[in-house]
Amino acid sequence: MATLEIKNLHVEVKDEEKKQMKQILKGVNMSLKTGEIHAIMGPNGTGKSTLSETIMGNPNYHVTSGDILLNGESILDMPVDERARKGLFLAMQYPAEVPGVTNAEFLRTAINVRRPKDNPIPITDFLNELDKNLDLLDMKEEMTERYLNEGFSGGEKKRNEILQLLMIKPSFAILDEIDSGLDIDALKVVSRGVNAMRGDNFGSLIITHYQRLLDYIVPDVVHVMMDGRVVKDGGPELAKRLENEGYAGLRNELGLKDVYLVDED
Ligand SMILES: Nc1ncnc2c1ncn2[C@@H]1O[C@H](COP(=O)(O)OP(=O)(O)OP(=O)(O)O)[C@@H](O)[C@H]1O
Ligand SMILES: [Mg+2]
Repeated sequence: MATLEIKNLHVEVKDEEKKQMKQILKGVNMSLKTGEIHAIMGPNGTGKSTLSETIMGNPNYHVTSGDILLNGESILDMPVDERARKGLFLAMQYPAEVPGVTNAEFLRTAINVRRPKDNPIPITDFLNELDKNLDLLDMKEEMTERYLNEGFSGGEKKRNEILQLLMIKPSFAILDEIDSGLDIDALKVVSRGVNAMRGDNFGSLIITHYQRLLDYIVPDVVHVMMDGRVVKDGGPELAKRLENEGYAGLRNELGLKDVYLVDED
């Protein structure tokens, strides 16, 4: 079993306009194990993507206190690639386009950096695995020969993130709004991909605004973030409550008067 622990995490980001540091995360605590799926919900701008970028090691996000432990070991000093080799994976809210590198080349390299140098994945194994996963995701083979994400539609990019997930087989995957912009069929396909990963050797942190995704990928734990903190933990019923009530009810119940929600004056 692998563990990912976020302990009292405080994170600042440089505000380029104001030329000063701005605190985004104000003490996040969360504990994941493989075998579990956690969901994070929360209003826009509360720090969900900041949390995922910080876990993955984006250097723009500065940890001012707290820690992130993977299997009990702090990963704060590790660069992104080392975190990836250790089994972390991030499907970004806005996946980058990488012209000049085909999707298939990218996948093979990403798999091989996690293997011993003298033991790359045999090409036939790679192609078999690729075929199987393309099938599962209803993706056309030609997508793998195109440059990574270049000219992909919004939904194709999201589906391609799940192809990477299935091929790279990380221990922990953070999926940041993997459902945004997906049509109903694509939502089911993406969920099928994530559910195929479910098992004792896989854990996931799924960031979403919509409870509908959680009908397909049923989480073990739901965390609600507001204003840089986790303010409530619960089960799938918590996501259903938010879908019905919005965030105002929970905010008022918790007495978080300063949390700003967009539908209010
Ligand atoms: N590089 C940056 N410079 C300035 N502000 C930033 C930067 N990165 C994040 N922020 C601010 O930090 C806050 C949290 O942003 P973040 O993207 O983590 O929110 P989120 O919870 O993922 O929101 P959404 O649901 O809209 O995706 C926002 O107010 C955002 O403007
Ligand atoms: Mg976000």
